[in-house]
Amino acid sequence: MNPLVIEMLIPDGYKTLFNVFTDLCSGREPSNTSFLELGSGGRSFVIFLRALGYQSEGVEGQKDLAVGPHIFHGDISELERIFWDRKFDFMGANGVFCYEAQWEFFYRVVDSELAPERYFYDNNFKEVMNKTFDIRIEQMLKAASSRLKLGGSLIVTEPWSIDFCVEVAKKAGFGISVYEQQLAVLQKTIGR
Ligand SMILES: C[S@@+](CC[C@H](N)C(=O)[O-])C[C@H]1O[C@@H](n2cnc3c(N)ncnc32)[C@H](O)[C@@H]1O
Repeated sequence: MNPLVIEMLIPDGYKTLFNVFTDLCSGREPSNTSFLELGSGGRSFVIFLRALGYQSEGVEGQKDLAVGPHIFHGDISELERIFWDRKFDFMGANGVFCYEAQWEFFYRVVDSELAPERYFYDNNFKEVMNKTFDIRIEQMLKAASSRLKLGGSLIVTEPWSIDFCVEVAKKAGFGISVYEQQLAVLQKTIGR
């Protein structure tokens, strides 16, 4: 496909993730390149990469979004249970490893009794929730590392800051090969 056409068809919000992904896998055969999107939302990016020939799949925790082929329903922290011994060359996550996205996931999926606005007016509650999210995000990143091939990369893009995610990723054992304001490439450099 013409690169200009491809550029025009990149789903909204995924431009950086797409450009970094294609740079990282330049020279590789798309049909031999596996990619898992963590928190694939409306699955537009998974479908887009498949149209370009990549072995792209997604995992999504909201049941109503986790529909259609190549999309798995489940929690990112449970990737080992979902994929068993399968491993991926690359992973990507757009707007997932941040407090705001985790809060949204929490009140939608984990505890639907919670009022969405509480996080924004009750500072004590927000502090407690953020501590929970620190732990959850570390679990999610460890699970991601367990399903990446050695040398594989997880590309993370965030609409605001990436700093918090990078700190947690170091604790989860990732090497950091790119670190910009809204982008990090986390590399699996140790383990099996
Ligand atoms: C802000 S949305 C971004 C959706 C999509 N990546 C995009 O850019 O359009 C975050 C997505 O990640 C999913 N998500 C967040 N935490 C998750 C978790 N622990 N397990 C599975 N999905 C999760 C949410 O359900 C939501 O669809």
